[in-house]
Order: sequence, then structure tokens, then C-alpha cells
Amino acid sequence: MKRYSRISGTGSYLPPHRLTNADLVADLAAKGVETSHEWIVERTGIHARHFADDGVFSSDLGLAAAQNALQAAGCAAQDIDLIIVATSTPDMVFPSTACILQNKLGANGCAAFDVQAVCSGFIYALTVADSMIKTGAANRALVVGAEVFSRILDFKDRTTCVLFGDGAGAVVLEASDTPGILASDLHADGKYVDILCVPGHVSGGAILGDPLLKMDGQAVFKLAVGLLESAARATLTKANMTDADIDWLVPHQANIRIMQSTARKLKLSMDKVVVTVDQHGNTSAASIPLALDFAVRSGQVKLGETLLLEGVGGGFTWGAVLLSL
Ligand code: UT7
Repeated sequence: MKRYSRISGTGSYLPPHRLTNADLVADLAAKGVETSHEWIVERTGIHARHFADDGVFSSDLGLAAAQNALQAAGCAAQDIDLIIVATSTPDMVFPSTACILQNKLGANGCAAFDVQAVCSGFIYALTVADSMIKTGAANRALVVGAEVFSRILDFKDRTTCVLFGDGAGAVVLEASDTPGILASDLHADGKYVDILCVPGHVSGGAILGDPLLKMDGQAVFKLAVGLLESAARATLTKANMTDADIDWLVPHQANIRIMQSTARKLKLSMDKVVVTVDQHGNTSAASIPLALDFAVRSGQVKLGETLLLEGVGGGFTWGAVLLSL
């Protein structure tokens, strides 16, 4: 019998400290940085984001999301034999956030590693977990996207600091004899390293280079709209499906205008697009599993429906996963 992988539970977690645009605009004004609620909403669709308190790490956010996903899947931490964490804001240089999360969860002994593909990280991690389950290398995986992007924001740079937030999302993915994950498509092009990066690194006990996020927003925007469409089409082709087969688009939540553009290209109305960017901002690798969990728990998306997940981010990386829930 053919072996597939299927999502059996979703979970998410947002740190309690919520900042509306008005809160952020006031904080930034006190630092001499001028922006407005109107600009942020018009250009991005963002109304609010959550920031983790000092001392709270990606593994802590990931732990809460993972526990929710395990509960939804009806399984215990000890039933997991693979943990993949997608993050660009790891707790430490090493070991991986996945190892730290594994220990906090009490799933000690199973395989655990991080995937670093920035905002496409969850798409990458889900594809790796699906492949490992299909080959028999794993039976039940925990796939987590967890970020504390507030730690790498330059609060003097209004072009980036209003865009991002913290949070985590997780899914339990397990072996199944009916298809859950239908197809996926991953890409990267390292010639675009400079348009979205945190260029600093640790050397000899010091940080060399800038440890804060830099982005050429317009360049990222222009690339994103084309690449997301091509990844979506390639994934549909691999599954012998068309635009018309998509029940829901669950996109990376960076900017409502990018989502609207992708929806238009795929001939989907916006009421078939899961949108959480308004309340979460851009949570990088956490944004897709966060959006998925919100859509599942609110009853927006239902068992048996066909979902297209897609993301784009630093690297440049991009990709899509088509799945039957
Ligand atoms: O998650 C990874 C993927 N990341 C993305 O997908 C992000 C992609 N890029 C974007 O979402 C958009 O490019 C941004 C939201 C970052 C920027 O929107 P934009 O429509 O491309 O604005 P812009 O960069 O062209 O800036 C327009 C104006 C500029 O002023 P001038 O030169 O026209 O006078 C900026 O200085 O808006 C100004 N501006 C701001 N004004 C008030 C930039 N940031 C702000 C701000 N508040 N926060």
C-alpha cells in the first residue's frame, strides 16, 4: 500500500503582549520615528502584532503551539519520532531550537533539527517531514514554525519595524494510507541574499556586521508576486489539479496586497484566502501554521478540503504545498 502523510492536528500560540498600530506608532514617535496607522494599514493590511517579553524564546512559543497541536491530534509527546522547527530567530547559535523544544516537550530521543528558510521555512519543513514519512524514516512528525522577530528589528527603521511580529504555529503530520500532502514545490536563489537579510555574525566573542533585519521592500514585493504564482502552478501541476480545485489559499502573511495579487492570479476570490496578517503582522516561518490553525479552529477550513500553502522569504526562498486536510 502506498504511504502518505497527513495533518492530524494543528496548534498555535501568540505571546500575550499585543501592540496595535496606535501603540507602536506612539512608541516609535517617542524615539523620533514617524509613521502612522493609516500608512501601515494602507500599505500592508496590518492592524496589530504580538511581541514576546524579554526572556521568552522561539522554543517557548513553539512549545505552546506544539502542545496545542498534539492535543488536537490526540497524541502524546512520546508518540513523536521527528521534530522539525522552522525559525530564523533560534534560541542559540547552537544547538538547534528543535533540540531545545524537544527537551521542553519531553519527547527526548526522537530526531530533531531546524530548517532555515526564513519566511518559507514552514513550507520547507513540511516538505521535508512529508518526504521522511513517505520513505518510512519517520511515522509521526511535529512541524513547527516559531519566531521572535521583534528581537532582530531595527526600531529606528520605519520601513521594516512596523511589519513583523512574534508567534508560533505547529502541525502533527503522520503516516497515512490516504493522501494528505498532495504535492510540494521548493526553490531558492542565493543571488538575492542582500534584499532581505540579517547580515551580522558572531566572531571571536563579538557580533560582526549588523545584527538587525534589512529589507529592500519593493524588490521583495516585486519578486514575491511572480514567484508565488509560479510555485502555486508547479504544485498544482504535480498533483494533476488546477486553480479550480483549491478550496483555500493559506499564504505567508507578509502583506495583504501580495495575497490579493496571488489570489487574483489564481482566480480565487479573497473570501477563499485565509488572512491573519491584520492581527499577527508578518511572523516569518510561523505565519502559515498560525494562519492554518486559526482557520481550522474557527471552522473556516474543514476536513477534506484542498488547501494551497505558499510562502516566500529571505534567501531568496519560495515554495508551496498542496494538501487535503
Ligand atoms: O516576509 C518576507 C517577505 N516580505 C515581504 O513580502 C515584504 C514585501 N514588501 C512590502 O510588503 C512592501 O514593499 C512594504 C510594505 C515593505 C513597503 O510598501 P511600499 O508600498 O513598497 O512602500 P515604499 O517602500 O515604496 O515606500 C513608500 C513611501 C516612501 O516615501 P517616499 O519615498 O515615497 O516619500 C517611504 O519612505 O512610504 C515611506 N514609508 C513610510 N511612511 C510611513 C516607508 N515606511 C513607512 C512607514 N510609515 N512605516
